[in-house]
Parts: sequence; C-alpha cells; structure tokens
Amino acid sequence: MVKAGLEDIVAAESAICDVDGAQGRLIFRGYDIHDLADNSTFEEVVYLLWFGRLPQKSELEKFSKELSANMTLPKEVVTAMKQLPKQATPMEVLRTITSLLSMYDPDGTNDNLEATIRKATRLVAQLPVITAYWDNIRNGRELQAAKPELNIASNFLYLLTGSVPSDVSAKSLDVALVLHADHELNASTFAARVAAATLTDIHSAVVAAIGTLKGPLHGGANQEVIKMLLNIKEPANAQPYVHKMFEEHQKAMGFGHRVYKTEDPRAHHLRIMSEQLGKQMGDLRWYQISREVEQTVQKEKGLYANVDFYSASVYHMLHIPIDLFTSIFAMSRMSGWAAHIFEQLGNNRLIRPRAEYTGQRDLKYVPITERKA
Ligand SMILES: CC(C)(COP(=O)(O)OP(=O)(O)OC[C@H]1O[C@@H](n2cnc3c(N)ncnc32)[C@H](O)[C@@H]1OP(=O)(O)O)[C@@H](O)C(=O)NCCC(=O)NCCS
Repeated sequence: MVKAGLEDIVAAESAICDVDGAQGRLIFRGYDIHDLADNSTFEEVVYLLWFGRLPQKSELEKFSKELSANMTLPKEVVTAMKQLPKQATPMEVLRTITSLLSMYDPDGTNDNLEATIRKATRLVAQLPVITAYWDNIRNGRELQAAKPELNIASNFLYLLTGSVPSDVSAKSLDVALVLHADHELNASTFAARVAAATLTDIHSAVVAAIGTLKGPLHGGANQEVIKMLLNIKEPANAQPYVHKMFEEHQKAMGFGHRVYKTEDPRAHHLRIMSEQLGKQMGDLRWYQISREVEQTVQKEKGLYANVDFYSASVYHMLHIPIDLFTSIFAMSRMSGWAAHIFEQLGNNRLIRPRAEYTGQRDLKYVPITERKA
C-alpha cells in the first residue's frame, strides 16, 4: 500500500534543516531555531542555509550589501507589472514576475552552480520588491527605490508603505522571516527540488515552488487565519465560532501539521510577537482572539498551532494587506528553496518515483463509431 501524501517517506538526504516532530525541535545547519530567532537576522540565516556555517562579520556585511543592492527590478519588468490586471492576487503576480525575471537576469542561461547562487541572491532581494511594488501598483501609489542602508525586512516595509518602519515593526518582520526560512521537505521545497533535479534553471524551480506554496494547505493558510480572526471580531465569540466550525466539519486553518505532533517551535515566537505588537499598539484584541481560538482547538481536537496561526495576527498588526501574507512566506522561504536547489545540484540525480497502477488492463480498443453510451 502506498502511503497517501508520502507521509513519513524519506525522499532525500539533506544537511540543511531537521524537523523533529516528536520533540517539536527545528534545526537549521545545527542551530536551534530558538537560538536563531532570538539572536540572528534574516540575512545571516540565508548565509547559514546556503553556505553551511555562520558568517564572519565582514562576510555578512558583504552578503547583506549584495542583497540590498539587488533590491531592484528591471524597468521592463516594472512596466510589465503595470499591465497586469489589478485584481491579480499577489501570489499570481509573484509567480508570473519571477518567471519573467529569468529573461532579464544578467547571468542569462548560464545555470552552473556559481551563476545559480548569483541568481538566487537576486531572487531573495527581488521577491520583496515584487510584493511591495504590486501592492503600490494596484493601488495607484508611487514606487520607491529601496534604501541601501536598510535590511530586507525594513526595506520591504519601506517599499510597501513609503515610510521607514519603527524598530519594533522591522524586528518583528525580520524574526518572522528567520522563522519561515526553511522547513525540510515541505511541499514547495520538494517541488523546487524535483524541478531542479531535471537541471532546469533556478527561476523555473522557484516558480514551481511559489505555485505550490500558494495552496491553502501550505502557505495559503495564514490568509485564511486572519479572515477567521476578523470574522470572530471579539475574544468572547471565539469559542462558539470554533465549535460551529467543527460541527460543520471545517478545518481550523493554522492548526495541525504533517510532521509536528507537538507545538510547532516557530509558533512560540510568533505568539510572543503577536502579544508584544498588541501591547505596543494598545490593542490586544487580535492576540486575545488568537489565544481563545488556540485553546479551544487544542481542547476540542488536540491540535497545536502551526507557523501560520500567529503569523496572521502579527502581519495584520504590521498593517500588511491580508492577501500579501503568503507572499511574505515566499519572500522568506525563497532562501530555503535556494539552499535545497544548491544541495540538489551538488549531488544530483533525476527525481522520478513510481506509481502503483490501480487502473484496468487489457481493454480492447473500440472504434468511436462502434462505442456504446
Ligand atoms: C497541515 C495539514 C495539511 C496536515 O495534514 P495531514 O498530515 O494530511 O493530516 P490530515 O489532513 O489527514 O488530518 C488528519 C486528521 O486530523 C484532522 N485535522 C488535521 N488538521 C486539522 C485542522 N487544522 N482542523 C481540524 N481538523 C484537522 C483531519 O480532519 C483528520 O481527521 P480524521 O482522521 O478524523 O479525518 C492539516 O493539518 C491542515 O489542513 N491544517 C490546516 C491548514 C494549515 O494550517 N496549513 C499550514 C501547515 S504549516
């Protein structure tokens, strides 16, 4: 019997990330996610995931500068974005513009490992620009140029809103980017590795990953969570809302996980951030509703919050439009996709599994004129 959804099937060896579902531990290149969330930055984590070790100060400065310098889009790409239908979702735009960027990449069709790393550096820098620019274009706002002195999180918020964010907002987004950076063979990363293993280019592999992340069972869940919190409106409504949802056999978005059987360690940090941001804003409502929902789902179904649950209230309090939430996940996970693509290319073999055939055999072909209804 084939296990549905390839549950528990080990499909690759990898030295990038370990998810211990029983203990609720997450490790990037040997470092515990709690340590990284408390002490590191997104730029440093990208370096760690790609090059296998923490950078020296000068290495991190050089890498951060390279990232900031690439936070720009070719003018032809911006012109093309302006032609897109205004109702296009940010994930559709991200998928399409990532594909378009491959035609303007300075490394062209050079897809050796060094060129692929350069392309990945550009993509990590460009995905936030696409996301922020799209929100400005669809709302008829001016486009700003990224500020070289800002990191990716601050630059993204700056490009989105036109104002340099507060330290608390910038730090919150930076930690969220650290937490989402990689997660072993999740669906989108697997899609990226399958594509990369055909020796296609990195833009194609990332397009496959973005399309996969977009689904509501994967990265799309955070958008569904905030819609639920907005429907609930007040903490007192949370319990009856969840009861009704389960009576109607609906899934609670932001809960459950294929691998974690205990709390998702990333949810811990996002829960704290949600409370801190609420306190800072003098409005704890979104945190409190989230807590009520979390406790009710835990009691009713024994399910724990995953990374998407508290990221929803955090992004909402950062005034990020709801339909950009999944794109923020993509902005971060781009680093993990790239790390896995490099690893795949470093020791490549085409990924081509088998299917167990359950259809019919030995049917006789009947000409169309003789077929019975
Ligand atoms: C993440 C997820 C897709 C993992 O799915 P999976 O490993 O395939 O597990 P299943 O969907 O088969 O669920 C197993 C059981 O738990 C239940 N379950 C799992 N997640 C649930 C949820 N969020 N709400 C309610 N019930 C849930 C299922 O209904 C199923 O119950 P059953 O055996 O009585 O039918 C699933 O938990 C889910 O859909 N969560 C909501 C979406 C989400 O937050 N995705 C982001 C993941 S980081």
